[in-house]
Amino acid sequence: MSCRVGILVSGRGSNLQSIIDKSESSEIDTEVAVVLSDNPEAYALQRAKKTGIKAYYIDPENSKPILTGKAEDNYINTLKEHNVNLVCLAGFMRIVKEKLISEFKWKMMNIHPSLLPSFKGLNVQKKALDYGVRFAGATVHFVSGDVDGGPIILQAVVPVYQDDTEESLSDRILKEEHRIYPVAIDLFSRNKLKIRNNKVFIEETNGE
Ligand code: GAR
Repeated sequence: MSCRVGILVSGRGSNLQSIIDKSESSEIDTEVAVVLSDNPEAYALQRAKKTGIKAYYIDPENSKPILTGKAEDNYINTLKEHNVNLVCLAGFMRIVKEKLISEFKWKMMNIHPSLLPSFKGLNVQKKALDYGVRFAGATVHFVSGDVDGGPIILQAVVPVYQDDTEESLSDRILKEEHRIYPVAIDLFSRNKLKIRNNKVFIEETNGE
């Protein structure tokens, strides 16, 4: 049975689109069961609906960028109603708290446009440029409670060029995000990810 994924989004949803495309083409054994957003205007909601995927705006009921209280319960209940086995944060710009995380313990992933643990938070491509790093990248990790923290599943590295702008670097990283997030989801759905001592081990595939 394919893995049922619930995806939380806030904006344009290009990572969502890459996951939808790869599950529609059966490149990954995954079904996007539901898409939830804290932003009624999120283009990601339209992308999901276009493909016939259930997509809802759920009011976060908080002016601060966190998900707590009754709103957090609403997210949990909706994910459960859709029988999701995995929750993926894909550009969900709100801090998720303990209740949601423990409901989906080691069943929640996030993608972040830096080589964690470097450059957590917002505007991280600019932070990488300002720092002068030679390499940047993207990280998919399990969500454990620290913001942009938790055991790392996959990373992809891109070079940083001297004439890069925030936009050119973001585009280069985003291409890698679109590649590695579906791979991480596929590994999860095939039960290949094991966590020991807060580290992720990817089981051998034995020529599968
Ligand atoms: C992506 O670059 C994602 O890594 C980032 O938001 C963007 C969403 O783009 N997420 C974070 O910064 C989380 N800390 P998308 O809506 O086109 O997928």
